[in-house]
Amino acid sequence: QISEAEVALFSVSSYACQRRTTLDNHNSNLTDALSLLAENAELNNEDGRGVAFRRAAALMKALPTQVISMSQLRGLPCLGEHSLRVIKDVLENGVSSEVESTKQSKRYKALKILTGIFGVGAKTADRWIREGIYNLEQLRDSGQTLNRAQKSGLEHYDDLNEPVTKAEADAIGEIVQKAVDSVLTGSQVALTGGFRRGKLTGHDVDFLITHPEEGKEVGLMPKVVAWLESQGFLLYQKTTRNSYLESKDGPARPASNMDRFERCFSIFKLTKGKEQESTQPEEQNDLKTKDVLRPHMQADTDQQLCELSKNYQMEAASHKIWRAVRVDLVVSPISQFAFAVLGWTGSKLFERELRRWAGHEKNMSLSSHALFDNTQNKYLRATSEEEIFAYLGLEYIPPSERNA
Ligand code: GTP
Ligand code: MN
Ligand code: MN
Repeated sequence: QISEAEVALFSVSSYACQRRTTLDNHNSNLTDALSLLAENAELNNEDGRGVAFRRAAALMKALPTQVISMSQLRGLPCLGEHSLRVIKDVLENGVSSEVESTKQSKRYKALKILTGIFGVGAKTADRWIREGIYNLEQLRDSGQTLNRAQKSGLEHYDDLNEPVTKAEADAIGEIVQKAVDSVLTGSQVALTGGFRRGKLTGHDVDFLITHPEEGKEVGLMPKVVAWLESQGFLLYQKTTRNSYLESKDGPARPASNMDRFERCFSIFKLTKGKEQESTQPEEQNDLKTKDVLRPHMQADTDQQLCELSKNYQMEAASHKIWRAVRVDLVVSPISQFAFAVLGWTGSKLFERELRRWAGHEKNMSLSSHALFDNTQNKYLRATSEEEIFAYLGLEYIPPSERNA
């Protein structure tokens, strides 16, 4: 029994961008529960609920010690009735009944499996579920028409659902740097996304490319992609053109959260181990049956044959010398680089909170391209992230502390 006097009360700022959120989380039992409900809400297109759970989870991530009693949470922002109920359940019972029943539900399982396919969002998954498709086998059997991204996603399903390591991110970084050096000398590549925040794994690898001379970056993406393609590094790519400069009178005010940089969603073919440096991954690609089926493997019965086939598949998988990795490439002009780096470093909630802070507290509009001061009616130029935080009246938070 803990008396109230013994329980320290936390004091925490209400916007995630005012807080320092590192990767060491003292309340993962609570944040896991809240994040799962956030994810479930997002998968069901309930964005408001999703954000509410994300904010509650982010707040718990920022607490300096483990929460052991509800009384410690008194006066904290971001915790709605629903989130408090979930937290109480976990503190008292070890698990939240709502989380457990969600995890077990047929719909949640199907949404997870189907949106695990690259190119499949919540809306598509929902439509398939309404047609009775709950898993990959049923999807394959259904004869649904898949677009190019989805076909690729299905083909590389296992690889793309396996977390990317920092070592793999670095290996891909070297390849991207090589590509960029080959097509335009002086170009710079910056690692963004979760890996820039110090995460050890990620669902993809994010890069931002620029050139110190304004304008030189125009047309860079197709050249980089062509080089990567010629070297056999791409299993899939879709490039979308920059639409930012196409508006009539310079940078228009951000109409939505979507940015308009030249961007490439891709799937890399990353050679494993020593071969990583090879510029010709194609050559070592074919796995011959003789390399895998050893002479001592002789099947006498059906059961043995089945075993043998299973062994073969397992060995083949473990011998596979390349794997598919999702990579996002973005090209930014140097004049927007600081905003682009800030916007692509994340976390997603940290970004959302920065924009909310800018709008609600500063009457400014922040995007990955620019910061506009609505009071002074002008753009605020910046060449570093530090300057942008300063304009926003926020203490500078380094990437490793943006893990909200
Ligand atoms: P993992 O990849 O799962 O490790 O996490 P992550 O934080 O790297 O997430 P993700 O790769 O999805 O996104 C990286 C950052 O890019 C996040 O801050 C996103 O908000 C941002 N981002 C992703 N897509 C867009 C987009 O279309 N426009 C803009 N401006 N930002 C985006
Ligand atoms: Mn990422
Ligand atoms: Mn990404």
